[in-house]
Amino acid sequence: MAGYLVSDNRKVTTHRFMEMKQKGEKISMLTSYDFTMAGIVDKAGVDAILIGDSASNVMAGNQTTLPITVDQMIYHAKSVVRAVNRALVICDMPFGSYQVNAADGVTNAIRIMKESGCDALKLDGGVEIIDTVKRILDAGIPVIGHLGLTPQSINKFGTYAVRAKEEAEAEKLVSDAKLLAETGCFGVVLEKVPAALATRVTNEISVPTIGIGAGNGCDGQVLVVADMLGMTQGFSPRFLRRYANLNEIITDAVGNYVNDVKSGDFPNESESY
Ligand code: KIV
Repeated sequence: MAGYLVSDNRKVTTHRFMEMKQKGEKISMLTSYDFTMAGIVDKAGVDAILIGDSASNVMAGNQTTLPITVDQMIYHAKSVVRAVNRALVICDMPFGSYQVNAADGVTNAIRIMKESGCDALKLDGGVEIIDTVKRILDAGIPVIGHLGLTPQSINKFGTYAVRAKEEAEAEKLVSDAKLLAETGCFGVVLEKVPAALATRVTNEISVPTIGIGAGNGCDGQVLVVADMLGMTQGFSPRFLRRYANLNEIITDAVGNYVNDVKSGDFPNESESY
């Protein structure tokens, strides 16, 4: 595959995820929601692309992840899949698509896999959804779990503060992570939990942990692409490292375009037929 920033251009699989953990090779993951961004992110060498339900916030401007639907996730996932050759493509199951019962969950999971062509699915939660996770795995669909600050439960939490600081919640998180791994999930995302707890989980489960606001002890890291590129504004949690300020770059570029149109400078002769 031409144009890739990394030398190992083999398609990343869930099997490779496991190998990376065993070899101590860190796993890089970013979200993407559309064809153009996913193509850039894939070529830059990210190991996994998550079509996060954060599309609800980033792409649609909702306050939470709750409103996004299965149809909308499939639309985003299809667009990403068309662009990606190398990265493992994981799609979030949206709120309401797997919490009612296992039968609904597996039906929606099969639909997302069939219609989007993605490689794997992500679900929020532990013991409460384990029957559904098992049914989805039994259908041959790879699943990655998501524990800690699970955005689909934001109304229950009532705050975006760090989770599992108290012992009871921390112990439940460890037990949920073990259960997900033992049930057959190929990884667990840990969001906004103390670094020491994430390191403990990483050491105690056989599958990779992918952290976001969970410190450096995880097997991999994930960020929302629009946040790490500095496109979103007014969101500066401590865990977020910005690698660019695209908001400023895009604003300047659009401002220059507007000025050029208004002044009659654009288009010039070489830009005309
Ligand atoms: O929806 C999302 O973007 C996520 C990541 C933050 C892990 O779940």
